[in-house]
Amino acid sequence: MAEHYFTNNADLKSETRLIHYNYGDGSIEFTSDLGVFSKDKLDYGSRLLIETYIEKGRDGIDLLDVGCGYGFIGISLAKIKNTKSTMVDVNKRAVHLAKMNIKNNKIEHATAFESNIYESVEGLYDIVITNPPIRTGRETVLTFLRDSKKFLKPGGELWFVMRKDQGALTVAKKLEDLYKIEIIAKSKGFFIFKGI
Ligand SMILES: C[S@@+](CC[C@H](N)C(=O)[O-])C[C@H]1O[C@@H](n2cnc3c(N)ncnc32)[C@H](O)[C@@H]1O
Repeated sequence: MAEHYFTNNADLKSETRLIHYNYGDGSIEFTSDLGVFSKDKLDYGSRLLIETYIEKGRDGIDLLDVGCGYGFIGISLAKIKNTKSTMVDVNKRAVHLAKMNIKNNKIEHATAFESNIYESVEGLYDIVITNPPIRTGRETVLTFLRDSKKFLKPGGELWFVMRKDQGALTVAKKLEDLYKIEIIAKSKGFFIFKGI
């Protein structure tokens, strides 16, 4: 059976590799491995989401990164925007890598743990941010996005990235009963959405 990046497979061999995110004057090093999303390079959509947040998002707030993978979004924003990042993923290896990357980058105000979407998440956040797992199907993606509302403080914001050809506009429409949705950046077919 095909292995997906979101399945847990204890027998999967390990071949770690390093990936660098260079921004401004700084660089963040991530350890990645087989069996996780975008294992060999930083995902373009995630990068666009981070760079849009760096330009337009708030500093120093409580942020929840749902489907964190090896931690690219939550760790980068903790380092660059001083967010207090809580990161969750269903993939055990991804969570292991995210924890390692928090430690290796000496980020004190970030944490990562296993959770099936929001199942193990507690508390309220200023921002829920995600590059949702398209391959898990539309229902899971909508749960990622719609249930975010339950974990946002009043005035909180949902930020997400999706490609036009993945049905981004249809998905965004399905959130309009919960959020005022805006497209705040576009590049190479990727849209960055903000919901207030
Ligand atoms: C598109 S990837 C984004 C990964 C990472 N945030 C990044 O930007 O590189 C989506 C992530 O969602 C995770 N995921 C899939 N299903 C999930 C679920 N039910 N609960 C939590 N995370 C899930 C996958 O394991 C994957 O790491």
